[in-house]
Amino acid sequence: MFEQAWRLFRTDLALDIGSARTRIFLQDQGLAYDEPTLVVTEQQGRQEKIVTMGNQAKQYLGRCPPTMAIHHPVVQSICVKPAILERYIKQAIQQCNGGSSFIRPKILMVMPHGLTSQERKTYIDILYRLGNRESVFVDTLLCAGLGSQLPINEPIGSILVHIGHGSTQVGIMTLSGLAASQRTTVGGASINQAIVSHLQKERQLEIGLHLASAIKESIGNAEVHGESRSYPCTVKDTTTNQFRQVDITSQDIAQGLYPPLQQIASAIRKAVSTVSPELCADIIQQGIMLSGGGAQLSGVDDFLSSELRLPVFLSDQPHLSSIKGAGELLNNIDLLDWIGEENG
Ligand SMILES: Nc1ncnc2c1ncn2[C@@H]1O[C@H](COP(=O)(O)OP(=O)(O)OP(=O)(O)O)[C@@H](O)[C@H]1O
Ligand SMILES: [Mg+2]
Repeated sequence: MFEQAWRLFRTDLALDIGSARTRIFLQDQGLAYDEPTLVVTEQQGRQEKIVTMGNQAKQYLGRCPPTMAIHHPVVQSICVKPAILERYIKQAIQQCNGGSSFIRPKILMVMPHGLTSQERKTYIDILYRLGNRESVFVDTLLCAGLGSQLPINEPIGSILVHIGHGSTQVGIMTLSGLAASQRTTVGGASINQAIVSHLQKERQLEIGLHLASAIKESIGNAEVHGESRSYPCTVKDTTTNQFRQVDITSQDIAQGLYPPLQQIASAIRKAVSTVSPELCADIIQQGIMLSGGGAQLSGVDDFLSSELRLPVFLSDQPHLSSIKGAGELLNNIDLLDWIGEENG
């Protein structure tokens, strides 16, 4: 009876804080929050008040008056503004509960792979300030591997390439552990930057990162000879300094995508080069699983497959793989006890 009443006020949740988006999974409900990791603040006296965050904050990008500031508290998967991030997460958790706080929940936090101990500590401090003493964190690669249905707890080598916004993480997993891993700061953000630089250099067009991201998501294709579509937009021609209407095609930007995608391919080669012949044989047989929001770029599976001469598969809902895996772990206490970590 008491246990039932207690459950009404308490819930376990999984939390994946990304450079682009934050996702929260409630144990009893599933995905309850999936919004940009963005906060708009305004200075009021000595206090920095949160004006808005998440989806609504997106409309403020490039449109804030001088009295307001827009914050990306996570950059390259590293928390760069802990105080703001903590307030953001606290409000996001409340939003999942219709505006009221949960009694200190047990939080399973998805921890980006390959951070320094100080960078991890920043997240761990937030985790223990917001969650209860049973809170744990689990490596992104293990969560995304589980969420992509890889047999991560079997004696078989599986390779996962998780292309996020701020980084790409590569992991070779076996028996619930990581046999090898690599992290590069190439992700969706640097791909956007590559599109901006390429259009400037090759077509003398000036575009912002926000437009670059929209073009990438709408018509981007990793393969230079892949299907070409066009994206009409009004942009500045730097030869005349005038704005004009242009059609940007998939082929216009594919060349620009090549260098960052090559860096992802070389991170994969590095990870594979360090594992045992047995694990290598498993990888050759099973192929590579791609996950993370960046894996939704058209043709990235074919590009990596021809670069690496291995079969490449796309996870189902690749952008949700890590939060889905973390959500699954909330119901698998034995596996969570095995792979969850409690301190730095
Ligand atoms: N259709 C698409 N084509 C290409 N890229 C896409 C597409 N849809 C989303 N993305 C990119 O996916 C990235 C977001 O992925 P994800 O949600 O995995 O990042 P994140 O978890 O916030 O970041 P990280 O874990 O690296 O800190 C963004 O760069 C976004 O532009
Ligand atoms: Mg992520």
